[in-house]
Amino acid sequence: MIEIKELSKNFAGVQALDKINLSIHDKSIFGFVGPNGAGKSTTINILTGIVPPSEGSVKILGYDLKENPVEIKRRIGVIPERLALFDGLTGEEHLTFVGKIYGLEQKILTNRINELLYFFELTSARDRLIETYSQGMRKKLAFASAIIHAPDILFLDEPFENVDPIFRKKMRDILIRMRNNGKTILITSHALIELEDICDEVAIINKGKIVYQSRTEDIRKKIKDEISRETYQSLEEIFLDVVGGSDEEEKDNKLSWL
Ligand SMILES: Nc1ncnc2c1ncn2[C@@H]1O[C@H](COP(=O)(O)OP(=O)(O)OP(=O)(O)O)[C@@H](O)[C@H]1O
Ligand SMILES: [Mg+2]
Repeated sequence: MIEIKELSKNFAGVQALDKINLSIHDKSIFGFVGPNGAGKSTTINILTGIVPPSEGSVKILGYDLKENPVEIKRRIGVIPERLALFDGLTGEEHLTFVGKIYGLEQKILTNRINELLYFFELTSARDRLIETYSQGMRKKLAFASAIIHAPDILFLDEPFENVDPIFRKKMRDILIRMRNNGKTILITSHALIELEDICDEVAIINKGKIVYQSRTEDIRKKIKDEISRETYQSLEEIFLDVVGGSDEEEKDNKLSWL
């Protein structure tokens, strides 16, 4: 579904991605985690055509990203890190605008907008300007905009940030439903427990390089075997072990002046 080969990105001297290789299967939820500045958003921005890569190749849905960007864009949805909402529009106007870009017929669009506003608890705010929305409302509207055209692949950059626990549960349920209906979802998040719960596979990126990759089922199996084998107990433990700072580094950085 997504095939990334030797993908690199250099921002004027900053090596944000360093030859990453990843295969993401269809009908799966793939978790992409890593510390701040590791390269997660850069990867999503490249895959969704927001940022051009420096080197390497990407195939999505069988199409080459360089050769068929429009065909790919038609069939993917994205919540970018900075949400990309038009603050001067109302929630409803924003969804209408996005739906029209995807060429949705008016009747289908009207129905979907009503359903989405209801699901995302934005019905009473539909006529308010987005600039008056709370952070969580903005995230919900961005989510609604990302799925309005029923995309085959969904890219979510920190979807759980700023949303309340009740809504997180609703989001998780809808992602699992989409996966069960054959969609593919790539999520970055620092909410490791949440990711471990819903992902079929996870990769950890650190300083632009993939440093760990596993099926979550295998992580869970290892947890079961914990008595017989010395092993990790959770994604969080793996994360801290693989990318955590060394004790030496911590000794030198303890803010002793506080
Ligand atoms: N437009 C840009 N210009 C220059 N450097 C950039 C740009 N975008 C990203 N970077 C750099 O690339 C590196 C990776 O950034 P990226 O945003 O991909 O990290 P991230 O893994 O998403 O982190 P976070 O968890 O904080 O969101 C960082 O060093 C960042 O400063
Ligand atoms: Mg990011």
